[in-house]
Amino acid sequence: MAGSTRMLTWETPTGRLFINFTVGVLLGFVLTHVGLKLYDLGIVDKFHVSVLDRKSLLLLTNNHGDEDQAEAEANDDAEGSHGRITNSDYIVLGKDALSHWMSQKIRILCWIMTHPGNLQTKAIHVNATWVKRCSTVLFMSSENTDFPTIAVVDHEGRDHLWRKTRGAFEYISKHYLDKADWFLKADDDTYVIMENVRKLVSLYDPEKPIFFGRRFKSFGRKYTSGGAGYVLSRKAVKLLTEDAFKDTKLCKSATHVGYPEDVEIGRCLKNVGVETGDSRTDIYETFHPFIPEHMLVPSSLLKKYRWYYSLNFYPVQKGPKCCSDYSISFHYVTPDMMYWLEYMVYQMRPFGVGYHTCPSNIRTMIEPPS
Ligand SMILES: *[C@@H]1O[C@H](CO)[C@@H](O)[C@H](O)[C@H]1NC(C)=O
Repeated sequence: MAGSTRMLTWETPTGRLFINFTVGVLLGFVLTHVGLKLYDLGIVDKFHVSVLDRKSLLLLTNNHGDEDQAEAEANDDAEGSHGRITNSDYIVLGKDALSHWMSQKIRILCWIMTHPGNLQTKAIHVNATWVKRCSTVLFMSSENTDFPTIAVVDHEGRDHLWRKTRGAFEYISKHYLDKADWFLKADDDTYVIMENVRKLVSLYDPEKPIFFGRRFKSFGRKYTSGGAGYVLSRKAVKLLTEDAFKDTKLCKSATHVGYPEDVEIGRCLKNVGVETGDSRTDIYETFHPFIPEHMLVPSSLLKKYRWYYSLNFYPVQKGPKCCSDYSISFHYVTPDMMYWLEYMVYQMRPFGVGYHTCPSNIRTMIEPPS
């Protein structure tokens, strides 16, 4: 007993070690506590985005006044720093402003493949829901209307889808190439969560030739599903329209009918050196060729779409593993389901479950593409 008492005194080496250690732990604890208090009080209120070895992006957010916000936006414009997040980006974030800030930094043009018969039944509901989060939206059709729609072909029908896709990209290249950083194609029955598109592309340079979508393979061809939507960098659109479209060896001509547009776009992009990016988060897919029900419940999926199992590029995962928490799109979405998804994604939340919310003073880790 006497021995153990002696061990805790200053005289013995073990005692000194013990006291050193205890004081060290206490001091660390106090400093951390004071640091966190200062943070809470808003005294430590300036943060920068730091890109950590370009693998993960740590965003530290904080409350600022409107003046700071205006100033930061003015700086952004002056530097022309659109399209990419760099080490020097200073974020000014208030309430739910992370997505707002992302939408200022990363401009995405969405173009919707539609036709005159679908305007009042489908396109109008796309217009009323998710496309409001695009930086620019264009409805591509075979007639110019004040919907507005743009005529990029003169005939409708499945046989003319390739010509229509070509026409859409040619129109965009001519009029909108410098007005956006990324260019997303979707159908009038695709639902897209734009915040998650921006999350995906945020670590890539739009001046690099790359595109993302749901990867399929068929008859030895690798491509991305047209219905789940795909997103091209500015450079990819440039190469597609200025190089691939000009050479019938690289890409089928506009007069070619009856060819699947998504397979052909995949071939054209590959032929001009555009890389297919991995759009998954970890091993989970983000672009989905079906509605959530069919993605989640394998039996309902299997009955309807057997081809999907052999066509999917990566092994198909069942149940909740079908889909990333940061899912980007669903296909075959009816107009009614557009509003249902809008509610489920942006409004509905279980009380007390934190990850659904984005309050001020949060730290958000954006995971890297693997
Ligand atoms: C499309 O949405 C915009 C913005 O919400 C709205 O102003 C416009 O009237 C809508 N167009 C149609 C045809 O519904």
